[in-house]
Amino acid sequence: MKKLFAVLGDPIGHSMSPIMLNDVLSYYEIDAHYHPFKVSPVELETAIRGLKAIGITGFNVTIPHKSAIIPFLDGVDDLALSIGAVNTVVNDNGKLIGYNTDGYGFIKGLEPYISSFSDKKVLVIGAGGAARAIYFTMAKMNPLAIDITNRTVIKAKELIEACPFESNSKALSLDEAEVHLNEYDVVIQTTMIGMYPKILETPISLRNLNTEALVCDIVYNPLETQFMKEARQKGAAVQNGVEMFVYQGALAFEKWTGIFPDVKRMRENVLRQLEA
Ligand code: ATR
Repeated sequence: MKKLFAVLGDPIGHSMSPIMLNDVLSYYEIDAHYHPFKVSPVELETAIRGLKAIGITGFNVTIPHKSAIIPFLDGVDDLALSIGAVNTVVNDNGKLIGYNTDGYGFIKGLEPYISSFSDKKVLVIGAGGAARAIYFTMAKMNPLAIDITNRTVIKAKELIEACPFESNSKALSLDEAEVHLNEYDVVIQTTMIGMYPKILETPISLRNLNTEALVCDIVYNPLETQFMKEARQKGAAVQNGVEMFVYQGALAFEKWTGIFPDVKRMRENVLRQLEA
């Protein structure tokens, strides 16, 4: 019987996951369909019950349901539970189990540049949901240091205190981060600053950037943010948010099918969608 996969969100019309994942499902000749469902927050519990009743194989959840879904699942893996957000659900013999592939997706996207974090000093900019998934997951990889800078410093402090994994971390104001920027090997921009239409905004000045650094932005619209452009012009390596998006989807696909898919194919698919 044809398997069903889904993504639940509100809004959901602009999700790139259905086209990206239907393409790899057919590429691997898996008889399945991946469908976007617009589910409002008040309907979330009912929707989850319905998906369970029809025996869905797996699904993704996106904004605004990543945290709200947790009480409606039969189990949640430890990392997703500590992050407090689920983006991937697997139907394990009738039990819906939640995972978070955002943080690992981000880290897998760095593999061409970084094989080990043990000698790397990392700076995370922002302290929202995306920062939380990336910071918690990366803290598990034992980097030399992983600091957080945020406009509201107390939120960066709270994130560090909430993390269950031991790490060498401190919270910095944006001004402090600008002054000490040359100390960092990896800089990760996790806010929506620079996203279309406010494309000229950047979260911090890069005047003290280490030119050997890798600068990542989770934004992918535009493909090169002003922040990335300035980093590239200083000679740093840069990466946009397409990698995190593609790899979180690839890791979800692997959890559902046991196949780690062709990420090059997925990346090309996403770039085509962004250009359309
Ligand atoms: P998400 O869950 O998508 O990561 P969020 O929880 O709303 O989004 O977090 C947004 C992040 O962007 C926060 O770190 C926020 O900083 P504050 O905690 O100080 O609000 C940051 N942010 C948003 N707009 C900003 C701006 N104009 N300047 C600096 N930081 C900004």
